[in-house]
Amino acid sequence: MPRLQVRTKTRQHEYKIAIGRGILSGAGKAARERFGSPSQRIAVISNRKVFSLYGPVLLRSLQSSGFATPHWLMRDGERYKSIQTAEEALNFLSKNGIERGDALIAMGGGVVGDLAGFVAATYLRGIPFIQVPTTLLAQIDSSVGGKTGVNLPTGKNLVGCFHQPDAVIVDIETLTTLPPRELVAGWCETIKQGAVGSMELFNQTTALLGKIDSRNVLISSKMEKLVAAHCAFKASIVAADERENVARRDRRSRRILNFGHTIGHALEAVTSYRRFRHGEAVGHGILVAGELSKNMGLLDESELELLRHGVSLCGPLPSAKDLDETAILNAIARDKKRARGYIQWVLLEGIGQPTIVDGKEIGQNLLKQSVRNSLR
Ligand code: NAD
Ligand code: GLY
Repeated sequence: MPRLQVRTKTRQHEYKIAIGRGILSGAGKAARERFGSPSQRIAVISNRKVFSLYGPVLLRSLQSSGFATPHWLMRDGERYKSIQTAEEALNFLSKNGIERGDALIAMGGGVVGDLAGFVAATYLRGIPFIQVPTTLLAQIDSSVGGKTGVNLPTGKNLVGCFHQPDAVIVDIETLTTLPPRELVAGWCETIKQGAVGSMELFNQTTALLGKIDSRNVLISSKMEKLVAAHCAFKASIVAADERENVARRDRRSRRILNFGHTIGHALEAVTSYRRFRHGEAVGHGILVAGELSKNMGLLDESELELLRHGVSLCGPLPSAKDLDETAILNAIARDKKRARGYIQWVLLEGIGQPTIVDGKEIGQNLLKQSVRNSLR
């Protein structure tokens, strides 16, 4: 089973990412190893859908390692990643007398992970927590790196903090129950990470993507290695730029992980968050950012073709053909206002060679044309 070590410099925090098949049943042992013998209780936060599939295995494992396991299930969906839900979760911890020596486990996709991580970060000024990600997106991205938070009615992830987990347990067998669209969304994020990571990571990703017609791929050793390679890449970026320093514009700043996200967010906003799963919108966003990179003379047509091929392998994306370019550009402008005029695009000079470009340097006509060409 690949095990990775994440070392962040700012808080001298170090944790393991265990990746394997059927390793959920070893969660109790892993938690005992991490927290030692005095630890008595581990609170579990999940949602009904995920808990009905994997809750019994997790609780059994924790209990057999001597932990009491109060658990609480949040409602399913991005709209419940809110301050109200966080308050309910904090009350659950408090009513169950969870103390600083206890811990929390977040089991689910990025929504559960972000919310429960935020709750772990703020309850009693921070308690230890373990991420048990069960979507592809969460396994390769959101469970690693310590970004936690909730949404406000005015926008996503506007409240949050950095709080690194104490361990990440990635059981790839959980992917077998994921709905197909969630898999497509997760695969798009693997293309994003490959595109900014390296040609090697990109090729490793597309090689496996070429075989995803068989569901067995999801529980293959190649899948295990791929998830490990993505986690290793993400961990390397986080280790060097844990808090996403806004002054950094280099190729290894944490901001490069936002490749495809400027357009992705705009597409989600103009469709009122109803048409696309986040990763699907990022899939379109990757194509627009690639097209823009080519139109700005940064990226060769041949490498743009590789990107297009990679996204096409992920599976069908909901169409964006009917969306108006001006509405998309306006949504970007609204984001820009929120960011105090400071939109920075992540573009590509090649696969594995991201570059950060100030929005001021991008002409509106070129942008409009790139949006039109790639969404049609
Ligand atoms: P999600 O958490 O909403 O999960 C998608 C759906 O799959 C849900 O209905 C969930 O109940 C279900 N599900 C989860 N695991 C399952 C399984 N094994 N079998 C069957 N169904 C399962 O969506 P997501 O794509 O995992 O996460 C999106 C969230 O992640 C967003 O809120 C985004 O902001 C956040 N995110 C955070 C970071 C970070 O660094 N913290 C990075 C990227 C995204
Ligand atoms: N998913 C972006 C980040 O973790 O920084």
